[in-house]
Amino acid sequence: MDIRFAASGSGDVVAVMAGEGGELLPAAKALDTAASGRIQKAMQATRFTGGAGQVVDILAPESLDFARVLVIGVGKLDVANGLSVERWGGAAVKRVAASGAEKLVLQPDNLPGVSKADAGAHAALGARLAAYRFDAYKTKQKPEQQVSLKSVEIVMEGPASARARAEQDQAAADGVFFARDLVSEPGNVLFPESFAERLRDLETMDVDIEILEPATMEKLGMGALLGVAQGSVHPARLVVMSWKGARSKQARPLALVGKGVTFDTGGISIKPSGGMEDMKGDMGGAAAVAGAMRAIAQRKAKANVVGVVALVENMPGANAQRPGDIVHTMSGQTIEVLNTDAEGRLILADALWYVQDKFNPVAVIDLATLTGAIITALGHEHAGLFSNDEDLSQAIIGAGQIEGEPVWRLPLGPGYDKQIDTPNADMKNISGKPAGGSIVAAQFLKRFIKDGTPWAHLDIAGTAWKPGPYEDPLSPTWATGYGVRLLNRLIANRYEE
Ligand code: BES
Ligand code: MN
Ligand code: ZN
Repeated sequence: MDIRFAASGSGDVVAVMAGEGGELLPAAKALDTAASGRIQKAMQATRFTGGAGQVVDILAPESLDFARVLVIGVGKLDVANGLSVERWGGAAVKRVAASGAEKLVLQPDNLPGVSKADAGAHAALGARLAAYRFDAYKTKQKPEQQVSLKSVEIVMEGPASARARAEQDQAAADGVFFARDLVSEPGNVLFPESFAERLRDLETMDVDIEILEPATMEKLGMGALLGVAQGSVHPARLVVMSWKGARSKQARPLALVGKGVTFDTGGISIKPSGGMEDMKGDMGGAAAVAGAMRAIAQRKAKANVVGVVALVENMPGANAQRPGDIVHTMSGQTIEVLNTDAEGRLILADALWYVQDKFNPVAVIDLATLTGAIITALGHEHAGLFSNDEDLSQAIIGAGQIEGEPVWRLPLGPGYDKQIDTPNADMKNISGKPAGGSIVAAQFLKRFIKDGTPWAHLDIAGTAWKPGPYEDPLSPTWATGYGVRLLNRLIANRYEE
């Protein structure tokens, strides 16, 4: 979809803003005046209060240059922010995308907390995100289901001021779409080798790609990662994506690590069949890392960042790992695998060690659809955050808040850590208790973090995808792309020169 900025313009549909209490913002007021008060009248006739996301949808009076007018609420003006404007633009696109309209005009206004330029850019980003579809496998959509919208024009004073920001935002959106596509792809299409091949595409954006195959991983001693992969006909891959945007290519990078289980059956500790299809998304952490790498490369971020994704398929089979197996990790520590369904922590153990060993990063952030327990705790609203570093935690919480990808910090502590002790090896991969599962999993990962390395773990099992209906206009499909915007913002705020 084509998105442009202009000082004036016409189209099939125009969308304008109102605040809570039904107050029309300037562009809406001007339109209402041109329409001799018809818009106000329609608002009163429909109990419209200007609440966030509320819509009045009317046929335009003859005096206007449009066929249809949308008045969309942004909520209370004193608390409205950039995200409010994104949701406003997104709501307009959602409303008209398959309505037959081809051109939408958005007329954003500045708000108490959002400048005019920022409002224009946020409106564009909201429109872009709301237009996302995953319909590659739909071969026969009915005409009325097909997207009719071809272009969105942001009509505002000083359009040039919004353009520069919008270009940066487009990089973020393209990263989000890259992640959503990967999460949505089914397991028969996306498996370790094909995932790794897709990441090769990032080479065109000057991201260095290195793909490690099992023979190399074996030499490195990655027994935990290889143990998970051994039940599948698809061999494991570990992909290293390097972006060197800092002045010194030698400067220590930020490291991002992603869980990339392309399908998680549970292995021999097999999962129940109901809902198992969702486990095609068990590579949401790897997708978020890949999407963030894409975003920072596209906008040429002035930072060194290395992204590592551990790609495996967790299958039962004649050669699958058994409960009770003991594996050697690259760190030298041994793990007793008591449940083959607690596989994410196993592959991360080796990926985390590898990235610290090889790159000496300034900090390590891992993202993983790690535990069902995080959904019990936080639902689909917040990701769980676990960290050994106060400042890094605050920075992640702040980035998530700005970008609409909120996180909630949960504790770590020795009482959780000792639950993975076992007489048979250095640790076991489950506690065996039904409580505190997300924290125990985080404690497990922490055993693979070297002393002095700032580290954060984001458990995104509840946020990488979500159950329908998909009401948030900024995230219109099952896969959310969660984490890309957060990481991109964190890098911009904290790691760029
Ligand atoms: N991929 C799952 C976690 C998950 C569950 C993600 C539901 C998204 C939705 C993970 O590999 C897993 O199976 N975890 C187990 C751990 C348990 C065996 C200790 C879980 O959460 O049940
Ligand atoms: Mn599992
Ligand atoms: Zn899993």
